[in-house]
Amino acid sequence: MESSVITQVQKEDVQVSPKAGQVSRSALKQPRSCNIFKALFCCLKVQDGPKPPQPPLPPPSQHALLESQENGTVVKPSEVSLLPELNAEDQGKVCVVIDLDETLVHSSFKPINNADFIVPVEIEGTTHQVYVLKRPYVDEFLRRMGEMFECVLFTASLAKYADPVTDLLDQGGVFRTRLFRESCVFHQGCYVKDLSRLGRDLNRTLILDNSPASYIFHPNNAIPVVSWFDDADDAELLNLLPVFEELSKAENVYTRLDQLREQ
Ligand SMILES: *[C@@H]1O[C@H](CO)[C@@H](O)[C@H](O)[C@H]1NC(C)=O
Ligand SMILES: *[C@@H]1O[C@H](CO)[C@@H](O)[C@H](O)[C@H]1NC(C)=O
Repeated sequence: MESSVITQVQKEDVQVSPKAGQVSRSALKQPRSCNIFKALFCCLKVQDGPKPPQPPLPPPSQHALLESQENGTVVKPSEVSLLPELNAEDQGKVCVVIDLDETLVHSSFKPINNADFIVPVEIEGTTHQVYVLKRPYVDEFLRRMGEMFECVLFTASLAKYADPVTDLLDQGGVFRTRLFRESCVFHQGCYVKDLSRLGRDLNRTLILDNSPASYIFHPNNAIPVVSWFDDADDAELLNLLPVFEELSKAENVYTRLDQLREQ
C-alpha cells in the first residue's frame, strides 16, 4: 500500500553550502509529478532519478494563479491573511515559514525500529501507523529559531498526519501557527506556499523548505535545505543556525540574503 498512498517524486539535490554563514542559490528543482490522490504527504520522495533540466518559472500573475485552480477550491489570494496578527512577543521579528517533511522529519508507512514517533493516521476508514524519524539537531534548531523568529509551520501534507506529528515534535510551542495543505495554492500539479498570502511584509519573511516547488512564487525569500531521509550524520539544521542568526537581525531579508549569497 505504500506506493499507492505516498506520492512519488523525483528530486534533484539542492546545494546549500554547509559552511556557516553561506547560502548558495539552489538549482530550481520541480517534482516531476505531484500526483496527490489520497496522498498523505506532499512530494514524498522515493528515489533519486535523472535530473531533467527545469527552467526557472517567473512568478505567475494573479490571473494565471486563479486559472490554475480547480473549481471549488479557489481562494482569492488577497481575501484573508493566512496568519493572525503578530502577537506582542513576536513584534519586530522576521517571520520564518518552515516545512515539515524532509526538512525537519521523514515519515513513512514502512515499519522501522528506530522511529522517534509512531503516529496512527486514519485513511479511508483504516488506521495506519506512520513511522517518523527526526532530523538530527531538530530540537536544538527549533528551540533557537523560536527565540529569533516568528516561526510558522507550513506543510503541504494533510493536517490529520502533520498536526499530531507537530504536537510531538514541537513540545516547546515554537510554531505560532500551523498551515496545512489547504493553505497551499495548487499550481501546475504542485502545492505552492504563497508567501504573499501570509499577511506579513515579504521583505521580513523567509521560507525554509527542501522542495523549491514550494517557494516557486518567492525564490528570493528561500533558504534551501537538502532533503533529509535518514542520514544520521546530517548537520544541515545545525549549520543553518548561523545563517538564520544573521537573517534575524536583517531590516530587509532580500538585501541580507543577497549579501550572504555573495560571500
Ligand atoms: C467551474 O465552475 C464554473 C461555474 O460554476 C463552470 O461554468 C465551469 O464549467 C467550471 N469549470 C470546470 C473546469 O469545471
Ligand atoms: C518592507 O516592505 C514594506 C511593505 O511593502 C515597506 O513599507 C517597507 O518600507 C519595506 N521595508 C524595507 C526595509 O525595505
